[in-house]
Amino acid sequence: MTLIEEIKPQQSIELLKHLHILTRDGKINQDSRRKLKQVYHLYQFIEPILKEINLINSNYFVVDHGAGKSYLGFILYDLFIKLTQGKILSIERNKELVFSSEQLAKKFNFERMQFVAADTNQANAFVKENVDIVTALHACDTATDDALHFGLKKEAAWIILIPCCQAEVAKLLKTHKAQSLQNPLAELWRHAIHTRELGSHLTNVLRCLLLESQGYQVTVTELVGWEHSMKNELIIAKKTQQIKGNAKARIEKILGEFNLPELKSKFII
Ligand SMILES: C[S@@+](CC[C@H](N)C(=O)[O-])C[C@H]1O[C@@H](n2cnc3c(N)ncnc32)[C@H](O)[C@@H]1O
Repeated sequence: MTLIEEIKPQQSIELLKHLHILTRDGKINQDSRRKLKQVYHLYQFIEPILKEINLINSNYFVVDHGAGKSYLGFILYDLFIKLTQGKILSIERNKELVFSSEQLAKKFNFERMQFVAADTNQANAFVKENVDIVTALHACDTATDDALHFGLKKEAAWIILIPCCQAEVAKLLKTHKAQSLQNPLAELWRHAIHTRELGSHLTNVLRCLLLESQGYQVTVTELVGWEHSMKNELIIAKKTQQIKGNAKARIEKILGEFNLPELKSKFII
């Protein structure tokens, strides 16, 4: 255990203790330090976006998908949202995590933090208002796609994704492997480890193209050093209304080359 020097001065130490990021005596272990670093790095990217949105719409609305213990939501709220009129909704399917997050928000009087125990693919059914920012930090597998599609449907000004494990595309690549092998490109996913890595990479490439095909400007960068997390890709999409002309055609071409016709309905809108 070591004392942490990186904690932001405006951050509630009590909150970090209740989130079990800090121990009762204010210390931190390696795992918690890693989590805090990730969330703080993400905060560096999100803070200017929150400031910009707050100027446009002081009643702005953030929706976080696959929130887990809502570390991101609590830290965004404590550092920024509580000083404004904005609100945040965390969607998480684990009812116990949702219950304990609700209790914690009550304890800290974080009144504009809301939680819902649901599958992310149901978000459209219960969020009726306009949404300004959609986030998904390591929301497993297709929960990231749910967040992306939700953001598109809501025409969110910003969609911020840090994808987690991507099993879906790798599984399809594997299913069609024998059939695909006539194509020399199939060497890219012949070995199991390559199937997994390529599946993951391809998923994020398709996500970016989908966003670009729908009028979003996309920035892809590293969240934190690889020593902190292997799931490290940060996709920041800003709605600009400028559609990348060839994005849709490129998605079609890629799905053709990689023999993934099942994914058309997901990535071509
Ligand atoms: C790896 S954790 C990340 C949690 C949190 N975002 C963080 O970074 O600390 C992924 C969370 O997403 C939730 N999750 C995964 N798929 C989901 C889905 N389809 N709908 C709702 N929650 C989901 C899991 O229950 C889990 O709590």
